[in-house]
Amino acid sequence: MSDRRVLVNLRGLLTPDPARTWAVDRIPDAALALEGNRVAWLGRAADLPAAWAGADRVDGGGAWASPGFVDPHTHLLFGGNRSGEFNRRLQGASYQAIASEGGGIRETVRATRGATVDELVDWGEARLRAFRERGVVHLECKTGYGLELEAESRLTAAYGELQRRGWSLDVTLLPAHDLAPEFNGDAEANARIVTEAWLPELVRRHPGVARFCDVFVETGVFSVDQGRRILEGGKRLGLTPRVHADELTGTGGAELAAELGAASADHLMFCSDAGMKAMAAVDVTPVLLPGTTLFLGMRDWAPARKMIDAGCRVALATDFNPGSCPCLDPLTILRLGCLQLRLTFEEAFTAMTLHAARSLRRGDLGHLHPGARAQVLLWDVEELLELVYWVGEPFRPRFLPA
Ligand code: NIG
Ligand code: FE
Repeated sequence: MSDRRVLVNLRGLLTPDPARTWAVDRIPDAALALEGNRVAWLGRAADLPAAWAGADRVDGGGAWASPGFVDPHTHLLFGGNRSGEFNRRLQGASYQAIASEGGGIRETVRATRGATVDELVDWGEARLRAFRERGVVHLECKTGYGLELEAESRLTAAYGELQRRGWSLDVTLLPAHDLAPEFNGDAEANARIVTEAWLPELVRRHPGVARFCDVFVETGVFSVDQGRRILEGGKRLGLTPRVHADELTGTGGAELAAELGAASADHLMFCSDAGMKAMAAVDVTPVLLPGTTLFLGMRDWAPARKMIDAGCRVALATDFNPGSCPCLDPLTILRLGCLQLRLTFEEAFTAMTLHAARSLRRGDLGHLHPGARAQVLLWDVEELLELVYWVGEPFRPRFLPA
């Protein structure tokens, strides 16, 4: 088979433009020329340059083409599930109250510490397949349900194995996801061991696996000051910071992300106006997780519109995890982005493709302009907006043949 192919017979093609913050190209009767696994040209089929006349044709079957979704915030690997806790929440218990009794994240930590690397890899592959068949072509994945060196190391090893098996993912070290039970509430000592021992050892044992590190800055978990020290330690190891920030209370997590030049600040339901301005000024991506707001039954949706007005390139993600958002479905997030965060369809789509990829420093994902990876989704709908409009429909994209 030749290396040069043209995707034809498309009802249309929709893609963000990496050169313009929120502009989306909507091309009817489109064609897409591919050189190997990269996009070489996009436009109307009638305008296809003569140089492509002899290239192989791939039939799009009258579908709409789009770039694949990028999910920039998941907690992919964990043991067990928390349906029991969910039931308690339905009966009125709060997420924080359950956590303060030793449940919550720590319940998942108990189930994860007992897992072998092979088990983690198997669970991860099943979840990655579910993401992929829903159109997610690249994900960020965090450790964080080990909360001690050996279990965090097994999680990192499992991610390394998933990468070797060809899954497209960026790994984030999050050994500061919660206070480890062994520290009996001594956040200071916990922060110190993460910075001085666990992060350096994880990087030494698993070279090249992780690109980012993260910390849960929250009332009763790690303070801004402790978060700063952990993330600065990560930076010295070559890890770019991301921050779980202003999720349940406003603590100044967004400001910290800006101060450190983090790639992203995530959650941000209680982000201050100053935090938004600070993120916009140094181009920290706010990664908003509306599935979590929904699943925690909270009323405070992240102020997406205000962030866009402040000049932020907002991204959306699932936050897939067993406690606050057991959701593998990008369409649920797209719908919540439109219906609750009040984004237009084009903005929500850009937030789940271009800006999501940008927050992972992946300039060749999240769009279909020349140079992009040919991660193309084909949707059998008349208008792409229908992905949001038919609110409960489980649309599944088709993929280009390899
Ligand atoms: O992103 N905030 C911390 N971490 C997760 C929740 C994890 C859990 O409940 O297991 C989050 O919401
Ligand atoms: Fe999270």
